[in-house]
Amino acid sequence: MKDFTFYSPTEFVFGRGTEHQTGSLVRAYGGTRAIVVYGGGSAVRSGLLGRVEESLAEAGVEYCELGGVQPNPTDAKVYEGIDLCRRAKADFLLAVGGGSVIDTAKAMAAGVPYSGDFWDFFAGRAVPGEALPVGVVLTIPAAGSEGSGNSVITKLDGLHKLSLRTPKVLRPAFAVMDPALTFTLPAWQTACGATDMMAHIMERYFTNTEATSVADRMCEGVMLSIIEETPKAMHNPDDYGARANLMWAGTVAHNGTCGVGCEEDWASHFMEHEVSAVYGVTHGAGLAVIFPAWLTYMAGHNVRKVEQWARRVWGVWAGADAMSVALEGVACFKRFLHSIGMPVTFGELGIANPDISLLVDKLHEDKGELVGNYIRLDRKATREIYELAL
Ligand code: NZQ
Ligand code: ZN
Repeated sequence: MKDFTFYSPTEFVFGRGTEHQTGSLVRAYGGTRAIVVYGGGSAVRSGLLGRVEESLAEAGVEYCELGGVQPNPTDAKVYEGIDLCRRAKADFLLAVGGGSVIDTAKAMAAGVPYSGDFWDFFAGRAVPGEALPVGVVLTIPAAGSEGSGNSVITKLDGLHKLSLRTPKVLRPAFAVMDPALTFTLPAWQTACGATDMMAHIMERYFTNTEATSVADRMCEGVMLSIIEETPKAMHNPDDYGARANLMWAGTVAHNGTCGVGCEEDWASHFMEHEVSAVYGVTHGAGLAVIFPAWLTYMAGHNVRKVEQWARRVWGVWAGADAMSVALEGVACFKRFLHSIGMPVTFGELGIANPDISLLVDKLHEDKGELVGNYIRLDRKATREIYELAL
């Protein structure tokens, strides 16, 4: 196990009706004038936004709204939001939604006190030293942004989807998590969310770090739980228990707990971010295509952890050698993804002829000549993995 510092200070307030506590939580973290950030309207239609704003008013928090954040959020909305914050003299950002809304709020939070262009943080030209506090009312378990210090934004000029990673500055102060808010999720979004959280665990699980037994077993346990609970939530969208387990799984998958002491990989996420930037696909669906291809490549180049994952998560015991066990694990993973309605090839994702040269060029332009850690991937390797996903 590697040396580490683990700092994950978000207050998670979990359970039915917890959105009514939002106002008092904003006050507790120093908010008096909040911007309420939300997406394309699901929170309006469900009545959630109204309940949250009522709670703010009861707690004496002034607020104004910034709606219309789209999935795979862009820099344009962040600029609009920073301008609004400054005009309204906001001291708090409240995100009501999923990863796209939360990430927009986080980028605004870092951008407001900064005199330069907020994109400097994403381009690696500056590091945010301070940010407005961010609170979350989570409506979809998927990205794990409610517990992460990260924000992922696409710059429209050139379609660069980049992440800002701050271990401390951008972790939300609190996250309100009512599983009943996720009953309205379409099956597709439920499945994309489950795939994303599986991927967040696997980015940590596939490590060359030795002696990571606690992290390995935590990862395997949470993956098994996601595999069990996702079909239940899809067959019965109002299954509170399944929704609750998925919601908490999404958080622990990405708040750092599962990767403590491990070198993490993240190549599959970087490769997917190029796909969602160029083709506008849902992040989880893009991962359902890229991750099995990445695993197939790894079975042939660094089989150790892929074999362990196949045995412990998918129960594969028969097989002539490590590679065939590993590949059977990948086949089980694909069958699971299909069973929840996910695509596992570019064609199934609706991209008949992906421009792989463009994806490879953008990937290495954005992320450097070598990506990932489980095996450092050069252009030849990433091309091969994209081709394995055809
Ligand atoms: O926009 P509305 O109308 O709210 O609809 C949303 C959106 O269309 C809908 N939705 C959300 N909650 C709902 C609901 N529909 C019905 N009922 C509800 N309760 O779901 C759609 C997807 O929302 P989005 O916020 O885009 O989903 P998700 O949480 O998966 O976030 C995806 C974004 O997060 C990034 C992804 O790349 C992508 O841009 N990621 C962020 C990370 C982070 N900050 O740590 C890590 C991840 O790896 C990921 O890259
Ligand atoms: Zn993800």
